Amino acid sequence: MASGRVSHLGEWSGGMPFFLAATGAAVGLGNIWKFPYVVGENGGGAFVLVYLFFVFVIGLPVFMSEIIIGRRGRQSPYHSLYILASEAQHSRHWAKLGGLVTIAGFLILSYYSVVAGQVMAYSVRVASSAFVGMSADGVLNTYNVFRSNPETLLAWHTVFIVVVCIVVSRGVKKGLEAIVKITVPALVIMLLLLMVYAIYNHSFLNGASYLFDFDFKKLIYARDVAGSFIIDSSGSYQFTFKGILMAMGHAFFTLGLSVGAMMVYGVYLDRDISIGKTTFFVAIADTSIALLAGLAIFPIVFAYGLSAAQGPSLVFTTLPIAFGAMYFGNVIGSLFFLTLFFAALTSAIALLEPSVVWLIERSKMTRVQAVVWAGGASWFVGIISVFAVSGANLRDTIFVITDFFSISDIDLGHRIFNLTGFQVIDGIVTLVLLPVGGLLIAVFVGWIMSAESSRYELNAKNPWVYTTWRILVRYISPALILVIFAAGLFEWVNKYLLYQPVL
Ligand code: PHE
Repeated sequence: MASGRVSHLGEWSGGMPFFLAATGAAVGLGNIWKFPYVVGENGGGAFVLVYLFFVFVIGLPVFMSEIIIGRRGRQSPYHSLYILASEAQHSRHWAKLGGLVTIAGFLILSYYSVVAGQVMAYSVRVASSAFVGMSADGVLNTYNVFRSNPETLLAWHTVFIVVVCIVVSRGVKKGLEAIVKITVPALVIMLLLLMVYAIYNHSFLNGASYLFDFDFKKLIYARDVAGSFIIDSSGSYQFTFKGILMAMGHAFFTLGLSVGAMMVYGVYLDRDISIGKTTFFVAIADTSIALLAGLAIFPIVFAYGLSAAQGPSLVFTTLPIAFGAMYFGNVIGSLFFLTLFFAALTSAIALLEPSVVWLIERSKMTRVQAVVWAGGASWFVGIISVFAVSGANLRDTIFVITDFFSISDIDLGHRIFNLTGFQVIDGIVTLVLLPVGGLLIAVFVGWIMSAESSRYELNAKNPWVYTTWRILVRYISPALILVIFAAGLFEWVNKYLLYQPVL
């Protein structure tokens, strides 16, 4: 049944702009910076397979549910859930789910822009031929020197946030839509180019076999930092859920789910456009681009004896080697980092938008005021990640901040403070907030909203689409998320908080 509500926040001019905007949100640093390093940390192919399974079995149904919520509620995530819960005569506390996802997006943006700032810095460096003829060690050193300087990182983080704020302040059509039309196609072309280089460089097969070799031992048994399996006192491998939980968390992250972004993009969507088809193609585009990035990066990792498990610095220490060695490497390289910057920009816009619309609705601010508040706050929280990239753990970072405000004597005796601030924020968001948000979204749409409302909003021509989606969203997705999340949490508490001396 129709809701009769209309969007007061803006509208897409059609199905294509929505598809590009959703693809722009989905495709970002998650595909090119994060996907290769989480694959590397979790042993390769088996992780990829499990991740693909989660994208289509859990991610896609939740993706469709988010658009349904947005398109029916026509307000910010908080207010849409409030209205839809009332409409279904259920508790209005569901609105808090809207608050939770908005906060998750805000937190991601805080570190996302620090990484995106580094991408901007690298596009300038590569352009100036800084890596021409440089050895792999030289490239690694250059990155280490670059990242050890918090002022530079902070400056680029600031520039990036300002650019995001400018685009978002221009609104749906003039800001969001205008930018995605250029950036999404450009990124695909650049990645294809890089893959051709990798094929030409013979080591391509090493990369491909790493990505597609389904060795489940590497995913489910714990390994140390050097990548060897940890064997306990009884001589057996140690089972771990970590990799599986990471694969699930990354499926949410890469599709841009559980942060309210897709709900808001649904608010701007006309009712005639098919949700099932568009979200399916976004998921295909998103996973293909992640795989392409892996195919471009891993051959270089193996050809130069680098570590696949080196973490967030992977993209900054592998690709510049190739750019330094190839003809016109400075041109291709800076174009690559520039397109990556655009990919990050279209994702960051989606991350900021939910907080902005919430502020507009709640405080009756203008769009520009809301952007300044939300963007400014995210910039501030991002400072934690600036220090993390420079190598400081959370304890040191908090000391820097508390020293600055002359607060002393805070007892930070907890183990968690040995991690970097980035690891803590990213861990909380990807491993906890995104799965929990996804679970609740599935439960809300599958069990709270009436079947008539969701069928009407989904508006699928083929009845099988609705039936399959409904089974997934009511039973399969929530059950899988719950089991994996609970098992992962139990393992973490058990292993790290109760027994092991240091994380
Ligand atoms: N999906 C984006 C990426 O892969 C990140 C993102 C998350 C964007 C949530 C929007 C919302 O980089």
